[in-house]
Amino acid sequence: MDLNIAVLAGDGIGPEVTQQAIKTLNAIGEVYNHNFTFKDAVVGAAAIDQTGDPLPEKTLKVCLETDAVLFGAIGDPKYDNDPSAKVRPEQGLLKLRKSLGLFTNIRPIKAYPTLIDKSPLKEDRINGTDLTIYRELTGGIYFGEKKLNEEGTVASDLCEYSDFEIERIAHLAFKAARARKKKLTLVDKANVLETSRLWRKVVTKIGESYPDITLDFLFVDNAAMQMILNPNQFDVILTENMFGDIISDEGSVIGGSIGLLASASVGEDHSMFEPIHGSFPQAKGKDIANPIASILSAAMLLEHFKLYEEAKAIHNAVEKALELKVVTTDLDPSSKYTTTKVGDFIADYIANSEEITNYN
Ligand code: IPM
Ligand code: MN
Repeated sequence: MDLNIAVLAGDGIGPEVTQQAIKTLNAIGEVYNHNFTFKDAVVGAAAIDQTGDPLPEKTLKVCLETDAVLFGAIGDPKYDNDPSAKVRPEQGLLKLRKSLGLFTNIRPIKAYPTLIDKSPLKEDRINGTDLTIYRELTGGIYFGEKKLNEEGTVASDLCEYSDFEIERIAHLAFKAARARKKKLTLVDKANVLETSRLWRKVVTKIGESYPDITLDFLFVDNAAMQMILNPNQFDVILTENMFGDIISDEGSVIGGSIGLLASASVGEDHSMFEPIHGSFPQAKGKDIANPIASILSAAMLLEHFKLYEEAKAIHNAVEKALELKVVTTDLDPSSKYTTTKVGDFIADYIANSEEITNYN
């Protein structure tokens, strides 16, 4: 298969982890005879520094013209302490999601047996956890009208959803549940919010055409608690934009490191793959950041293009790295392995492993 991939490595550790994902995809290309070509473009603080715009037109054009986007991370401390900054790196990411129509963000969360002791949560609670969050990504409070009065004393952010925005992601979530453990949990705040009541109504209606899927509902406050009390009860969680943002960071604790969590953002015509972690500016250039989230995002890219064996090869290599403790210091403080070395191991394992070449 020929795939043209836009690479938006972004800020902080973005470039160094994305490099490992590219290395991994190149190894896959070699073993399985695919032709992956990569096209770099700037985004985030790096783009503001160069052009004054966190998502320059040229970058958007590259993303619109390629088959998929591999995204690193954005954010820079110089903007964090200045909430009034008019131009911010995050705007680049939000605009990109909106412009590419990436209305569904998929965030799988798994407790890896080899890392079970890394999580601050008790082993018996998290053992066997395998859930996936379907977060709505282009609507809700993130994109509703924002207001600040002239005196700067009253502010508001509108949370708005239309039925079609709920329907399109709900279908994807029900289908995902069908291929998994057949359970879908809608997380909302329907006891308070009108938008949540609309979510319940629309999702319940759609549920009628998926009679094999068990649908249940949880208020987001309870869901936040259940997520760490008993994460095993979940299969697919469907939720709106901001609730999904919050509970996915919470869920990352289950895996033991946010450095493991990948995500896919998909729409009708475009797709983007990005680690959940941020730009981790303190680690920039030190070759210590965990590249696994970025590498697993590359696996999600392959899955999106139905290259399932290839994605499985990445998962096997990652599991091998975890098993042999070829990991960065977030997972093993005494580890001698750098970002680059973990990436090398995974790429080499894909290129050389008996098991993997047998797939051919
Ligand atoms: C995420 C991030 C973004 C979000 C920020 C950087 C705008 O936290 O992808 O989860 O809130 O969606
Ligand atoms: Mn987030």
